[in-house]
Amino acid sequence: MPIVNRFADLADEIAAWRRDLHEHPEIGYDTVRTAAVVAERLAEFGCDEVVTGIGRTGVVGVIKGAGAGPTVGLRADMDALPILEKTGKTWTSKVDGKMHACGHDGHTAMLLGAAKYLAETRKFAGTVVLIFQPAEEGGGGAKAMIDDGLLTRFGIDRVFGMHNWPGQPVGKFMIRTGPQMASADRFTITVEGLGGHAARPHLSCDPIVAGSAIVTAAQAIVGRNVDPNEAAVVSVTTFHAGTADNIIPQSATLTGTVRTLRAEVRDLVEERLGQVVEQVGAAYGVKATLAYRRDYPVLSNHEVDAQFAGDVAAMIVGEQNVDRNATPTMGGEDFAFMLEERPGAFIFAGVGEDVANLHNESYDFNDELIPVGCSYWTQLVETALARAT
Ligand code: NI
Repeated sequence: MPIVNRFADLADEIAAWRRDLHEHPEIGYDTVRTAAVVAERLAEFGCDEVVTGIGRTGVVGVIKGAGAGPTVGLRADMDALPILEKTGKTWTSKVDGKMHACGHDGHTAMLLGAAKYLAETRKFAGTVVLIFQPAEEGGGGAKAMIDDGLLTRFGIDRVFGMHNWPGQPVGKFMIRTGPQMASADRFTITVEGLGGHAARPHLSCDPIVAGSAIVTAAQAIVGRNVDPNEAAVVSVTTFHAGTADNIIPQSATLTGTVRTLRAEVRDLVEERLGQVVEQVGAAYGVKATLAYRRDYPVLSNHEVDAQFAGDVAAMIVGEQNVDRNATPTMGGEDFAFMLEERPGAFIFAGVGEDVANLHNESYDFNDELIPVGCSYWTQLVETALARAT
């Protein structure tokens, strides 16, 4: 494939950048070293502008093409996860308890590779804005960069993102129009009962029994309130109460997450969860309250841009290797904030069938994706910002 060959000479160098990032993982907004490495490379490539400190530790590089045209934003994420790495690779994390288990090291390296190529060749009319964001894993780094003026300051017209996808071969792309990833909200349920001796429950008001009833009833929201043709998840993931086997505790605290693929369903689940918590609690004689925090919205690809991104992927790997009707995932992704503000699309790129799951201690980004991913970015730019001939 001639387009992939653009990166044949660069792939090893880019893989070395990736492995260096892998050895030095940073979490959330603490991507200080990573941001410094990114900024240094962008300057070295000859970007027209390199700006740091957008959205705290975000970095932006600007490359102007050979002629005027619109502005396209390409986004990579830089942050790692609090996981103790077990890959056994020679480039294993040097920081105990932190690792790049979601492949953001690969995303950053691939966008840097594309930047190097684009800064050298500039075979496009318009402007490319390279966006390197911190805190994708729960910190809302994309939102922080938007709030810091990212989209207006650099005049971004369209935005594109990419995530590697284990379980699918390198050279396979997956995308869809509309909702592709879920809204991801968090909640805390506080159950205030009355503590006492476990042998005399009638003199207490047991928050564990009440909390258990709330957990069970909450599942009926998905089963009985949400339209069966829609997707929703309510997961209670922690339940803390009590200190000893002979004490009924005073209170219990539960936390969890809600995922949906449509704003209306998200509203419905939030409302019903509030009612279930309060009223089931009342039925058990406890005071149960819900604190619900909206985090990432539904990631919804714009139709024209999803079609376009699929076309670009097909130019790299062939139409038969592009699934344009990918199954949505209930995972969340803060690129969703960018797609709320600008047209664009987010694509999944297969990273290998044998690669461990994202967020697993054995996961390692497969460097074979580098030439494919870099080619996708550069082809996207040269197509979206094609020069008049
Ligand atoms: Ni990720």
